[in-house]
Amino acid sequence: MNYLKERILKDGKVYPNNVLKVDSFLNHQIDPAVVNAVEKLMYEHFKDRKITKVMTIEASGIAPAIMVANRFNVPMLFAKKTVPSTLKNQERYHALVHSYTKNTDSDVIVSKQYINKDDHILIIDDFLANGEAAKGLVSIAHQAGATVAGVGIVIEKSFQPGRHLLEEMGLDVYSICRIQSLEDGKVTFVDGDE
Ligand code: G4P
Repeated sequence: MNYLKERILKDGKVYPNNVLKVDSFLNHQIDPAVVNAVEKLMYEHFKDRKITKVMTIEASGIAPAIMVANRFNVPMLFAKKTVPSTLKNQERYHALVHSYTKNTDSDVIVSKQYINKDDHILIIDDFLANGEAAKGLVSIAHQAGATVAGVGIVIEKSFQPGRHLLEEMGLDVYSICRIQSLEDGKVTFVDGDE
């Protein structure tokens, strides 16, 4: 069992509506040992993909993404949920990202300056649930003519449709930890993923 799974079992808290809180080591307070373990496994999986850039979405994706980018020795780019006043409409890519958990829509943006058709982009995020965030990032990469080299996820909620949606798009989805169920307040990992 990898270190992330051990910490989820020890410190993760299951809330109503299938929400897993990992605030003590990933989403609020961040334990570098957890992110370090994640980054090593991500590198092993994606090391042959000629990654030129790591892309995520603010806020919680940033910590794992910067660690992975550091390992690949490439820049990390994060999509912003608010538009900087200095960035004109024609200077940015954007995608509408719907959050089912918060029931909100965010128009996320990335400056056209930092992504181009020669990029091989590794998308990293902390959670994969419905896949809306990752889908938005894929759309931005494609608007720039870039290649999406893969999607690396820290915690996948495998009982939600995100993985299926991304695999239908032909993407390689690699998750450090896949959760089968959060029923009755108990975390169960996908079979064979122990
Ligand atoms: P998606 O991320 O796959 O698109 O699915 P969804 O619309 O359900 O997720 C909306 C937000 O809720 C995302 O963060 C996602 O990371 C987070 N999320 C989903 N399920 C869980 C969960 O069980 N536990 C925790 N802690 N977060 C979950 P976001 O809106 O982008 O916010 P943030 O990154 O600024 O925190």
